[in-house]
Amino acid sequence: MATTQMGDTLTITDNRTGRTYELPIENGTIAAKALLQIKASEDDVGLRSYDPAFTNTAACKSRITYIDGERGILRYRGYPIEQLAEQSNYLECAYLIVKGELPDTESLARWERNITMHTMVHENIKTFISGFRYDAHPMGILLGTVGALSTFYTDASNVQDLDSRRLQTRRLIGKLPTIAAYAYRHTRGYPYVYPDNELSYVGNFLSMLFRMRERRYEPNPVIERALDTLFLLHGDHEQNCSANAVRAVGSSLVDPYSAVAAGIAALYGPLHGGANEAVVRMLQSIGSPDKVARSVARFKKGEERLMGFGHRVYKNFDPRGKIIKKLAYDVFEVTGKNPLIDVALELERIALQDDYFLARKLYPNVDFYSGIIYQAMGFPMAMFPVLFAIGRTAGWLAQWAEMLRDPEQRIARPRQIYVGEGERPYLPIAERPAPVDREDMVSDHI
Ligand code: CMC
Repeated sequence: MATTQMGDTLTITDNRTGRTYELPIENGTIAAKALLQIKASEDDVGLRSYDPAFTNTAACKSRITYIDGERGILRYRGYPIEQLAEQSNYLECAYLIVKGELPDTESLARWERNITMHTMVHENIKTFISGFRYDAHPMGILLGTVGALSTFYTDASNVQDLDSRRLQTRRLIGKLPTIAAYAYRHTRGYPYVYPDNELSYVGNFLSMLFRMRERRYEPNPVIERALDTLFLLHGDHEQNCSANAVRAVGSSLVDPYSAVAAGIAALYGPLHGGANEAVVRMLQSIGSPDKVARSVARFKKGEERLMGFGHRVYKNFDPRGKIIKKLAYDVFEVTGKNPLIDVALELERIALQDDYFLARKLYPNVDFYSGIIYQAMGFPMAMFPVLFAIGRTAGWLAQWAEMLRDPEQRIARPRQIYVGEGERPYLPIAERPAPVDREDMVSDHI
């Protein structure tokens, strides 16, 4: 972690005025607010920084997840992801992410009990889900239903109350798999399956998804372990698009169901959690390994993105991608090989020898292989981002709680640089010229 010695400062000379300023550097950053003292004239509001998409701006201090993108390091609360994936499981990691430490035996048992106790959903949720169209995307169902939970748990609006935050955290981690499974069953037209709390967190999820007429669903232990590891690998990823959405929306002090629904909405997009679905579609459209070279040319021309490649933070490799690639073969032992793996391997091989990808530091990310595994497990593509959301719920809740407890955080409200029209007089409708379609104004003319 980059920390800086006391006394480290940045000296800035404003060439407009000739004045010099000394700004403290802490943890490798300067405070954007410190720029406000730099003024061109008395009535100047002060200097601001411009950083669309926050590419070089820290929006919070966090103790949850550490990423070193150059070296391919990911740690939850200090523990390397490789060790957690090897030795821990999702619920234990969810405890770690949310509470900050690994649990002892007793605390883990209590945590598992507390989560299990909340796997059931109100019967009206079933009715609510039934209202979606038969072909509704399960991620849309998840998004709407999680948002709707705020109307079932009105106590959740008490966000400053620790006991309430704890209760909503257990409820959300407990209920996400149930809602996800109901969303899946809805799109299939199957009856919903109630939770079986004798099974593990993931075993119960598989049961709610796939149980048909059998008396008791017996999850395959390899699939159960692999899915658990996938959830664990998705547990948190510091200030990604959806965590940022949860923090920004949660900073208005809205209840956590609404804030997490915002996270799910962010995750729905193809550049975030929707990427694993896009990867499988892309591999299917390529078809076979011999057609890979031709497709790579398209990606390089910018006609399409090579889905599952590239990351805002990882500029070497995504450590989750490495673990998932290995996991794929465990799953194929049970399910049989997904032929798309050969297309993916060839794509990876060619891309990693190509200057276009090397120069831009584009490597396979977590989504490159996860979709192939989910498909081998029997999940339809539309369920992939839903699976991501289940794992990420622990991270969203940890980010949300950290934001609420941070005295430096206030309602999220970025600045803008106004580049629109100056003041102009209102024209009565009869006097207005016909609007001209301008490319940069496309949203104004829809
Ligand atoms: N295929 C082809 N070119 C790419 C790709 C790609 N997947 N990703 C980035 N580039 C190029 C991009 O065109 C640009 O080139 P140039 O400098 O010539 O204009 C350069 O690389 C930098 O790209 P960027 O868009 O500025 O990078 P970013 O940090 O804003 O975007 C990203 C990161 C993940 C959105 C992007 O790499 C991408 O779209 N990847 C494909 C979608 C994907 O796999 N998303 C899952 C991300 S990991 C899971 C998660 O966090 O949800």
